[in-house]
Amino acid sequence: MTTIRLVQGDITRESVDAIVNAANSSLLGGGGVDGAIHRRGGPAILAECRELRASRYGKGLPTGQAVATTAGELDARWVIHTVGPVWAATEDRSEQLASCYRESLRVADELGARTVAFPAVSTGVYGWPMDDGARIAVATVRAAKTSVEEIRFVLFDKAAYEEFARQAG
Ligand code: AR6
Repeated sequence: MTTIRLVQGDITRESVDAIVNAANSSLLGGGGVDGAIHRRGGPAILAECRELRASRYGKGLPTGQAVATTAGELDARWVIHTVGPVWAATEDRSEQLASCYRESLRVADELGARTVAFPAVSTGVYGWPMDDGARIAVATVRAAKTSVEEIRFVLFDKAAYEEFARQAG
């Protein structure tokens, strides 16, 4: 039985087994959640990301996939990096966004994580409309088969929180 919780705040402050990062395919950092995780987690996370690039993802982590590192100085044990799609009005990339949530939960299950915090993937720099991003996030984790006991959506501002609350109904 998986519980879904919504909180408003900064995901880097959450005490959970795994925090999901809305990364980019370089895995080498950026702004938004990604920047906050690397700033607060320290250089160990970036060092592992570089290793992953060198060993498994020479061309970068593909959109919709997920991969874990340890979490450096964060409270969490792991960071699960996933790459959301950039919003495009002319092409439906919903399946790639859903895949981010499914693949992150698959990786969480492999790790044995029981509590996982997600940001609203793709709804910042990547431009996905919050209402649709929230709809896909909630529907996908609800349908996922996972051993994770608690999925926590951590929404940065009140508008995002309210949209997720509306979708979670
Ligand atoms: N905690 C929780 N949510 C946050 C935080 C935080 N500390 N900071 C921002 N958000 P974004 P994306 C919200 O841009 O759209 C990066 O440069 C934010 O308000 O972090 O998937 C990467 O390197 C928004 O609702 O991720 C990529 O290049 C949501 O998190 C690119 O941005 C996602 O915003 C990925 O873009």
